[in-house]
Amino acid sequence: MIANDKAVNRGVAPVTYGQGERPPRGDYSTARGDYTCDQNWSAYTAQEHDLYRRLYERQAAQLEGLACDEFTAAVKHLGAPERIPRFDELSNRLYRQTRWEVVAVPGLIPEEAFFALLAKRRFPVTGWIRGPEEFDYVVEPDVFHDLFGHVPLLFDPVFADYMQAYGAGGLKASRLDACELLARLYWYTVEFGLIQTPQGLRAYGAGILSSAGELRHSVRSGEPSRVPFDLQRIMRTRYKIDSYQSTYFVIDSFQQLFDATAPDFTPIYRAVRELPEIEAGAVLPGERLIAAS
Ligand code: PHE
Ligand code: CO
Repeated sequence: MIANDKAVNRGVAPVTYGQGERPPRGDYSTARGDYTCDQNWSAYTAQEHDLYRRLYERQAAQLEGLACDEFTAAVKHLGAPERIPRFDELSNRLYRQTRWEVVAVPGLIPEEAFFALLAKRRFPVTGWIRGPEEFDYVVEPDVFHDLFGHVPLLFDPVFADYMQAYGAGGLKASRLDACELLARLYWYTVEFGLIQTPQGLRAYGAGILSSAGELRHSVRSGEPSRVPFDLQRIMRTRYKIDSYQSTYFVIDSFQQLFDATAPDFTPIYRAVRELPEIEAGAVLPGERLIAAS
């Protein structure tokens, strides 16, 4: 689920392990054919639980006014911040709400395996946690990013359906050789999406919500461009994996996101391939931008 290994405590596109210069972190020897493995909860050390708590508390303290309400309301379902959650207990709660589950994986997994899990409403969560020296920045997504960033919105019925549709769409994109275009959609929505609300702009992307610095930057800074959600515009736009984003795309609702991505992408991929790519941060002539909140 990663474009290469410069990426990020801040997000991860579903484009895969094995493309970087380093092998992915994590023990793949215990993984099953679908790349899931046991969480092995009892192997976490007291220091690891404590690091999770410190990461959790730092993020929870800055959600107000920056994270969307759906996220803030659902964060409590992760359970007590003092301990890395047990995935099976979390899955029980999640399944009752939206029929999703979380499953452990050793780390980054190949994109087809990732899509297949999402299509079955199983969200892969990395088992390991970063080291204390990686408190502010970790190259690959760890259990904190995957859980804190992604799982709360899986409690939202519309967003939950979007994630499943994305997985099914990924399997189709693999057959159409369109994974790079689809990965940009993941990046600019699931990882770095912003949403307009009556109270102002808010973040819903996991890469933003699990980042100490990008939460404020994405919503409040005058620096980045904020562009109204536009599927083709997103598919044409490159992204940065080793710094804060210079472009964010803004939805009005999760229903808008679901509806805009429901049509068959086959002709859309074809159309997008005919158009020039857009650099991260570039603004098109005449493009309407949304102001910081
Ligand atoms: N509608 C897309 C397709 O036909 C699938 C998809 C849905 C992709 C939602 C992403 C998000 O390929
Ligand atoms: Co992520």
